[in-house]
Amino acid sequence: MTDPMETPAWAELTTLAARQLPLRALIDKDRTYLRLSAAGISADFSRQRLDSQVLESLVGLLDQTNVADLRDSMFRGDPINTTEGRSVLHVALRAPVNQPVIVADVDVSPDIHSVLDRMRNFSDQVRSGQWKGITGKSINRVINIGIGGSDLGPAMANRALHDFVIPEISFAFVSNVDANDLKEALEGSDPERTLFIVVSKTFTTEETMLNANAAKSWILKNLPHLNPSDVVQQHFVAVSTNSQGVADFGINLRNIFGFWDWVGGRYSMVSAVGLSTMIAIGPNNFDVMLRGFHDMDEHFRTAPPQENLPMLMGAIAVWNRDFLNIETTAVLPYSHYLGRFPAYLQQLTMESNGKRVRRDGSLVHYNTGAIFWGEPGTNGQHSFYQLLHQGTSIVACDFIVVARESEGVDPQQAILVANALAQASVLSIGVTREELRSNGNAPDLLAHKEMPGNRPVSLFMIDKLNPHSLGALVALYEHSVFTQGVIWGINSFDQWGVELGKKVATGITLSFSDASLIEAFDASTQYSIKEYLRINRQD
Ligand code: F6P
Repeated sequence: MTDPMETPAWAELTTLAARQLPLRALIDKDRTYLRLSAAGISADFSRQRLDSQVLESLVGLLDQTNVADLRDSMFRGDPINTTEGRSVLHVALRAPVNQPVIVADVDVSPDIHSVLDRMRNFSDQVRSGQWKGITGKSINRVINIGIGGSDLGPAMANRALHDFVIPEISFAFVSNVDANDLKEALEGSDPERTLFIVVSKTFTTEETMLNANAAKSWILKNLPHLNPSDVVQQHFVAVSTNSQGVADFGINLRNIFGFWDWVGGRYSMVSAVGLSTMIAIGPNNFDVMLRGFHDMDEHFRTAPPQENLPMLMGAIAVWNRDFLNIETTAVLPYSHYLGRFPAYLQQLTMESNGKRVRRDGSLVHYNTGAIFWGEPGTNGQHSFYQLLHQGTSIVACDFIVVARESEGVDPQQAILVANALAQASVLSIGVTREELRSNGNAPDLLAHKEMPGNRPVSLFMIDKLNPHSLGALVALYEHSVFTQGVIWGINSFDQWGVELGKKVATGITLSFSDASLIEAFDASTQYSIKEYLRINRQD
């Protein structure tokens, strides 16, 4: 496989990185080649620390690391998730109904659309009140129980699409094994009118199983005179690839919404994992969301690299990470309703590209996935932006701006947008001591007030936050993550790094009730276990 560091483009980029002009000197030149749009998203990379030569070499890097070939393999259904021997076909979930999708010589498109049809039917029943709880009352509360990809996408979408959510039903998302998460969701829930959607690809994830069982105990305790198995069948549905596990839990097999091993958890919000989203926004809006995803997929699949928005975004991320040594990216949505988007992206980006071994098993000798984090603006401005502007770490920033929040021009929306544009400008240009002095600032404060600027910023603008734009935005990040992974030669679709911690947690849980197991752990862990036991004994 290609080592990116061995490509001519990598050598060019190394040379170019040493002689890039600061953004102040670049920004007013012709930067139109850094402005692109696709699927209703306009992207402005003109505040990135690169010029046309860098861009040309990044396009060369895309070519020399065969990004387009691997993209085509993904769309074809080849098993590109090599460590798990799986295809990677989340793009198939949003493809039109008549488009065949071949996995291991079988067209899986009919299966995809049959699950979607069952989801539509079920969602309509819940939304219209036709689906009744065990005592004959309609559902007014939906609680999604799942974690990671089985939680973050649905929770993020529910908030993002707040204006499209059916008002008669409230939604909660329970993920944490901390019992307070479920407790809070159950407060005020009416057991006769609550529907639980247990979402777990494997149906073995400890947090989800504990919460699902606790939810079952709660409803059975609150509806004591009814047949327990009928109660579970009427108030629980499941989204899973593990039918046996679901049946063992007591859920009626007719109420399982399936998906497939070629859909990764963090890429699954458009599969049946999105059942709560469909109930919330309705099947038609869900279809519009799928179209948003698909429009970006088609752009990614067909646009030449130099015009391909996700590919360039991915290549620029590699430039920042490997040539400018920037370790972290802040995601700054200027939208209250995109509040969970940074958390969603953390799994998408870091579970995908937080890797140090290449697809062929060799260790990487360059940097891979950046650290992603963020908060909606303007709240972040009053907390961590100080470090963004004047700290010693350089943070790349993704601004997400929604041009129109509601019908007509809302004056507060204009202020929100103005703040985003102001921050993007100041981060990239800064202010010099000279400028401060000529503006009458006190001489002893000049050093404190100086802003170095030169912080790389991408600015994405969407017209309105709606199902289509949300789909396009998520797909944009998915394909940027894919592009980065291919350049780095890593498998973006496995997650072995999360396994060991789960296993050790099981061992520690056992040691709490069997002291002979404690000494198997390292000294620090032994100390913490004993402290935990000592504190609990004091009660
Ligand atoms: O933490 C690892 C992980 O496997 C994620 O990749 C996944 O989204 C999450 O756990 C939940 O898994 P499941 O849907 O099988 O419960």
